[in-house]
Amino acid sequence: MAVGKSRLEYIKAAHRMERKSRNIGKGGRLIVKSRITELLGIEYPIIQGGMAWVAEYHLAAAVSNAGGLGLLGAASAPPEVVREQIRKTRELTNKPFGVNVMLMNPNADEVAQVIVEEGVKVVTTGAGNPAKYMSLWKEANVRVIPVVASVAMAKLMQRAGADAVVAEGMESGGHIGSATTMTLVPQVVDAVSVPVIAAGGIADGRGFAASFMLGAEAVQIGTLFCVAAEAITHDNYKERIIKAKDIDSEVTGMSHGHPIRCIRNSMTKEYLRLEKEGAGFEELEHLTLGSLRKAVMEGDVVNGTVMAGQIAGLINKTQTCEEIVQDIIGEGYRLLGR
Ligand SMILES: Cc1cc2nc3c(=O)[nH]c(=O)nc-3n(C[C@H](O)[C@H](O)[C@H](O)COP(=O)(O)O)c2cc1C
Repeated sequence: MAVGKSRLEYIKAAHRMERKSRNIGKGGRLIVKSRITELLGIEYPIIQGGMAWVAEYHLAAAVSNAGGLGLLGAASAPPEVVREQIRKTRELTNKPFGVNVMLMNPNADEVAQVIVEEGVKVVTTGAGNPAKYMSLWKEANVRVIPVVASVAMAKLMQRAGADAVVAEGMESGGHIGSATTMTLVPQVVDAVSVPVIAAGGIADGRGFAASFMLGAEAVQIGTLFCVAAEAITHDNYKERIIKAKDIDSEVTGMSHGHPIRCIRNSMTKEYLRLEKEGAGFEELEHLTLGSLRKAVMEGDVVNGTVMAGQIAGLINKTQTCEEIVQDIIGEGYRLLGR
């Protein structure tokens, strides 16, 4: 024992060393660091996907409070709605959170501005190239993280100044590319020097550990958070995901270049029948107009669009965001031997 140190001080120091060597923080929580946790100022490298309709302020705040990064899905929301969502999130958490901007949204210019005005520090982008907003966001010290589905897009985003990229495989729910998570993530990791976040098909510690083995430094999760206790997703939607089996999803919209993965139902059957018959974009668009909102908010899981990924088959219960994050981190780190 060091001279002059009381026994209590000695015991406290020994516990600190023990926690440090086992990556355990105060309160017994694991310390999980990667370039992403440093970049975003979050405790755990878990990001909740910025999902249209599903990712509103209750969910985003709950994920951030659980130590991950909650995202608000701006989708096609008007700028003032996004502003209100940001302010409501702040009432529920003082932890970092971000906004997902769909670049093809006609309101994208105004939403980009609202993000800066409201002092949001993280943006993820989908459906396009955010180069147009890069200087606006960079000057405001916003971390910009585009979602990519190919190596070429990842390289382009890095050149444009992205701080990290989400490499999203076609197992995911929602809009998808054509490469799988297993093949895309390591190729993107090798192609860029910015940190890579794996997305698509991750819903437990095994998926988390596998992503890190592929070189990712965080994961983005969508389908699993749709059923979180704090998600406002209609109970019918949650139940449909919980009951889904491994092969219950379909991809609609392949014929017009905007493929979307969702759970099979009357809508997908009709959609795929029309696609097979060579229906035009407008006819198909008519079938799905407002259909995600119908499923998420009104619970119409028969005629609405139940966007969800192939991993739905693994999901069998509702949990709080805190339970989801702790389960994934606990199992993931045990498997990684950390
Ligand atoms: C219901 C739903 C809506 C989604 N909406 C968006 C969106 O608006 N913008 C976006 O970038 N990604 C969106 N995604 C993709 C997620 O953000 C996430 O990357 C994806 O769900 C990860 O794959 P997983 O579903 O297998 O976890 C959506 C996914 C789902 C399930």
